[in-house]
Amino acid sequence: MYLGLDLGTSGLRAILTDGAGNVLAASDQSYPVSHPHSGWSEQDPADWVAAAERALEAIKASRPKELAALRAIGLSGQMHGATLLDAGDEVLRPAILWNDTRASVEAAAMDGDPAFRAISGNIVFPGFTAPKLAWVKAHEPELFAKVAMVLLPKDYLRFWLTGDHASDMSDSAGTSWMDVGKRAWSPALLDKAGMRLDQMPRLVEGSDVSGTLRKEVADRWGLSDSVKVVGGGGDNSASACGVGCFDEGDGFVSLGTSGVLLAAKAGFAPSPETAVHTFCHSVPDTWYQMGVILSATDSLNWLAKQTGSKPAELSALLGDRIDGPGSIRFLPYLSGERTPHNDAAIRGAFVGLGIGDGHKALTQAVMEGVAFALRDNHEALKATGTTLTRVLGIGGGSKSDYWVELIATLLGVPIDLPEQGEFGAALGAARLAIVGDTGAAPAEVMTRPAVARTIEPRADLAHAYDDAYAQYRALYPALKEIL
Ligand code: XUL
Repeated sequence: MYLGLDLGTSGLRAILTDGAGNVLAASDQSYPVSHPHSGWSEQDPADWVAAAERALEAIKASRPKELAALRAIGLSGQMHGATLLDAGDEVLRPAILWNDTRASVEAAAMDGDPAFRAISGNIVFPGFTAPKLAWVKAHEPELFAKVAMVLLPKDYLRFWLTGDHASDMSDSAGTSWMDVGKRAWSPALLDKAGMRLDQMPRLVEGSDVSGTLRKEVADRWGLSDSVKVVGGGGDNSASACGVGCFDEGDGFVSLGTSGVLLAAKAGFAPSPETAVHTFCHSVPDTWYQMGVILSATDSLNWLAKQTGSKPAELSALLGDRIDGPGSIRFLPYLSGERTPHNDAAIRGAFVGLGIGDGHKALTQAVMEGVAFALRDNHEALKATGTTLTRVLGIGGGSKSDYWVELIATLLGVPIDLPEQGEFGAALGAARLAIVGDTGAAPAEVMTRPAVARTIEPRADLAHAYDDAYAQYRALYPALKEIL
């Protein structure tokens, strides 16, 4: 038996699988995000541990015998967050998350040094880990002086499980301290960032064993202390493991809190000038590229909150099929934007509102704005020479056929929707645990899901949406000038 634990932004998902990756039990446990100031986003690492404890409790209650036969655990999680520990391994402050943009000045300063893009293969985005530490150094110097270890969120969970300071390549690639091509910490970048190698966890591949359970944790859940914990991965590469996306040309569009258009790559081919992210994959010798937008379902959730509705009620107003763009444009930059603008300061906008426009028109505008932003990501990926001829659609937003048809039409590629079932980051984490425990070839374990149906681009409407996209493209520079 295997466990996959995915430490998301709004909650933790735990799944128990058998040796073939079939899901036997699952548990979701939520925790809050706090926004003490505009642009800040923090979580208490104790909440992550409490959520993992509740999830294990729930799984133990439903499948006690199977849990007792656990062999290995895989971890996945929200990327880029900074969890700071002192020399006694005590947490020094709330963790600063991936969607926190307080470190934009520090990020721009680092990004101005060409070594960061050259070695890490990526823009130093404000949400990445290195600028967060530079912010702590500038604003909380006494606390900074006590930092003995920096862990990514899922690696704090690993520390609780095993007592080890370790991380995997895919998650660490999003810190701006790593040589992503060499799959190793970069002494040069650490030095430039004012950090030391001894403050970094030991690196392992996602499918390598990083350690075994602490006796105290094992005893508490009735497990053996020989249960292995494997490296795992950042949530996007773990999701790619969940849907078997490794070969050049494989890709997915994920409509979650953030929106991601991901393409697997055979080699390390960075292209930071496009604002595309290039990270290590969770399996050895593999990399991937992705465009990231910060507010995908978050944009619809925001509208639902403001209108006192539920997101599914709003999307139901539009039906299942698209019939041409509306007249309102929405820019989904509610938390700033990564690809293609790298702009933490930009904010969203509605343009073209009319007196008769209500919830339906606003919902259409929001869904279109997110789809236009994903088209921007596709253009950025294409500019690097990457070709996607079809993609899988995953994440909560892919439940809306309307949204998927809209995105297929704007990207100009068919979107395959998997059959009902588990294929997210928690499954990817469990699959990495299976590979780590059994030594099986990743491709044997991490198969592609069966496709339930394919939503094709609407050729009859492509022209109309292209025109609307051109209007959308013109709005960012105009907005930038006045904000
Ligand atoms: C990726 C990113 C997000 C988080 C969200 O670079 O910041 O997708 O990993 O979970």
